[in-house]
Amino acid sequence: MVTAAQQSESGMDGARTFPRDFLWGSATASYQIEGAAAEDGRTPSIWDTYARTPGRVRNGDTGDIATDHYHRWREDVALMADLGLGAYRFSLAWPRIQPTGRGPAVQKGLDFYRRLVDDLLAKGIKPVATLYHWDLPQELEDGGGWPERVTAERFAEYAALAADALGDRVTTWTTLNEPWCSAFLGYGSGVHAPGRTDPVAALRAAHHLNLAHGMAVEALRDRLPTGGQCSVTLNIHHVRPLTDDPADADAVRRIDALANRVFTGPMLQGEYPEDLLKDTAALTDWSFVRDGDLRQINQPLDFLGVNYYTPTLVSEAGSTGSHTSDGHGNSSHSPWPAADKVAFHQPPGDTTAMGWAVDPTGLYDLLRRLASDFPRLPLVITENGAAFDDYAGPDGQVNDPGRIAYLRGHLAAVHQAIADGADVRGYFLWSLLDNFEWAHGYSKRFGTVYVDYPTGTRIPKASARWYSEVARTGVLPG
Ligand code: NOJ
Repeated sequence: MVTAAQQSESGMDGARTFPRDFLWGSATASYQIEGAAAEDGRTPSIWDTYARTPGRVRNGDTGDIATDHYHRWREDVALMADLGLGAYRFSLAWPRIQPTGRGPAVQKGLDFYRRLVDDLLAKGIKPVATLYHWDLPQELEDGGGWPERVTAERFAEYAALAADALGDRVTTWTTLNEPWCSAFLGYGSGVHAPGRTDPVAALRAAHHLNLAHGMAVEALRDRLPTGGQCSVTLNIHHVRPLTDDPADADAVRRIDALANRVFTGPMLQGEYPEDLLKDTAALTDWSFVRDGDLRQINQPLDFLGVNYYTPTLVSEAGSTGSHTSDGHGNSSHSPWPAADKVAFHQPPGDTTAMGWAVDPTGLYDLLRRLASDFPRLPLVITENGAAFDDYAGPDGQVNDPGRIAYLRGHLAAVHQAIADGADVRGYFLWSLLDNFEWAHGYSKRFGTVYVDYPTGTRIPKASARWYSEVARTGVLPG
């Protein structure tokens, strides 16, 4: 048998060839691109409510229109085909399918995704569906949201409806996108919807998101044909210590528990890490974890989705060096419960328009660590990319050399990780299109396709053409 590591080769000219069946795609999410916020029965999600609350999102931007993908989806699929993408990762809007978060599915909502998927399949593009990319129906938040168990139960019903309707054509599914953000930015620091600032609610939310994942995998497995694939997408933080002082190593351990192991523990190993329970004991006794929950959360997965943008640099608070935010937005409330002794630092190197350090070694190290911690679990990069201040020049073209350099560096890191034994099966660039970047509104452009918001016009940037060549050939040029 030829292993992926043997198949991924480097040529004399420095060109790097990826494994033959490596999946090349781009990613988006419903609230960030669809618009049509009140069409065909869709009701508000927590992000609609949050964005309409003054002061929450830059410039008062909302997802009401976004990139108008709900009306322009055909053009967008044609663009993906032109760009030679092999796969497309998108998310289903829960409030489009089940507006109140309960009851039967809205056919018009399902039809939108059916048409989208059929067109993707007709053009040879593999659809990869995410069930939840942060747009919780507002009614469920009104009933308590993710800190309450009932939300996980509702999610399992929604997952079943989605799989019943689309499971015949979508074979690869992801339950949750970055549950860390849903729990800790949504309920801890409040820089994401629903904007609550309660550390205990954040921990409760994390558990119920874990439970929702497990229940949804069960629902999907019952419905998907053989060969159907289930996964979850985590923004595993690659946490590094500022110095080799043991106190900094302990800061790494603490953040690794709160960012990563709070999800990988129950999902992949069937238990919450002891040190996490101990660190947070003053806040909660975790009695919201019921008998049987861990067994239900710990479902076999076909791959782990990994989103990576930048490393996280920490020290024990009080040590030398400049303290900065943790890259997750400014709030007087911390997204890290019981971690006030940890300080966050700006990692060295150039930054993107988000202020995030560009460091492909973080991705390499992360993939190697995951491969060693979970040796039998294939990995897929479900997001990687960068925001830059792109603009259309007088010739109408958008040149984005910074993004090409970012992608080149990170793809080289992926190639190296594969060569060194990590079982990485695919790469999804974030993002296909410029879109609504959450609390930053439309001010941050992550797309490889530029969107002129006043007209909705799409202009593929230089990076789209560059990535297209890589995707078509499976070769990263030297
Ligand atoms: C992760 C999220 O999944 C996505 O929605 C967001 O736009 C990107 N990171 C960039 O911040």
